[in-house]
Amino acid sequence: MRTVAVIGPGRVGGSLALVLQRRGERVHAVAGREGSTSLDAFARLVPDAEVRPLETVADGVDLVLVCTPDDVVGDTARRVAAADGVTEGQRWVHTSGGHGVGVLSPVAAAGGRVAACHPAMTFPDPVAGADQLGGASWAVTAADADLGWAHDLVVDLGGAPVTVHDHDRTLYHAALAVGSNATTAVVTMARDLLLGAGIEDPAAFLGPLVTASAMGGATRGVDALTGPVRRGDAGTVAGHLDELAVSFPEAVGTYVALADLVLLQAVRAGLDPGRADTVRRTLDGHRT
Ligand SMILES: NC(=O)c1ccc[n+]([C@@H]2O[C@H](COP(=O)([O-])OP(=O)(O)OC[C@H]3O[C@@H](n4cnc5c(N)ncnc54)[C@H](OP(=O)(O)O)[C@@H]3O)[C@@H](O)[C@H]2O)c1
Repeated sequence: MRTVAVIGPGRVGGSLALVLQRRGERVHAVAGREGSTSLDAFARLVPDAEVRPLETVADGVDLVLVCTPDDVVGDTARRVAAADGVTEGQRWVHTSGGHGVGVLSPVAAAGGRVAACHPAMTFPDPVAGADQLGGASWAVTAADADLGWAHDLVVDLGGAPVTVHDHDRTLYHAALAVGSNATTAVVTMARDLLLGAGIEDPAAFLGPLVTASAMGGATRGVDALTGPVRRGDAGTVAGHLDELAVSFPEAVGTYVALADLVLLQAVRAGLDPGRADTVRRTLDGHRT
């Protein structure tokens, strides 16, 4: 049976370890920052994993999952490789979205096989992450000879592997940052406005609407756009901005920036140029 070590016992490291543990696999060892609370939490979730120093965490395991923050992955690889902690043919995977496989080059130079496997899912905490991971798409980047086992690993973790070329990795990750983090921020702003309008349960309004809007954009692109900017209803837009200027002045700049984006896409979707100009002039009147 495969034996696994985890470096970085946080949200993703804890989630993947839990998924493997639920499959009956052995998570043999874990390394984190000394005295870290996330290391304690990981030990409670995966009690069989031995807590080890970074330099020896990979001893005797087949697979190492590097789940540290993005900026630490390279240093982690360098430190373990420099301590002769990599064995020939050992499989190493990191879960960072923006990095390709180059960041694990010290491991590859020491004889390890390397892959970058990024789950397109949000992991708010280890248990929620493990629960919602099934069916997620994963971006897999590896040399041709390593794609097979990397894809198999993702399937074992309940995911759907998709090969992403190394040179496309940064653009891929920028897309997901917009689709996930920026979307959460925009929905949070909508939630604040609804609470301001006296709506006690904003999720009852936003849940179905945001889900349908997100799926529309993801599947149909600009053809899914609706609303006042898409229709060219400049009077409605002016009303929103006048109200925000009074009730939520801090939201005016973001509303204008988002409306600029909607307007660009509305024109791509076929909005009449004259109507688009009227909306643009309305927005211009509220730029700071
Ligand atoms: N969260 C997501 O939604 C998500 C989704 C997909 C991919 N990812 C990727 O997965 C990776 C991990 O993200 P995360 O959200 O799980 O981060 P996280 O919750 O902050 O976990 C990172 C873990 O690495 C530990 N760590 C920090 N520096 C270390 C070092 N020098 N050596 C060993 N361990 C170290 C942290 O310890 P402390 O707790 O002491 O800081 C923490 O346990 C990142 O590359 C991220 O881009 C995240």
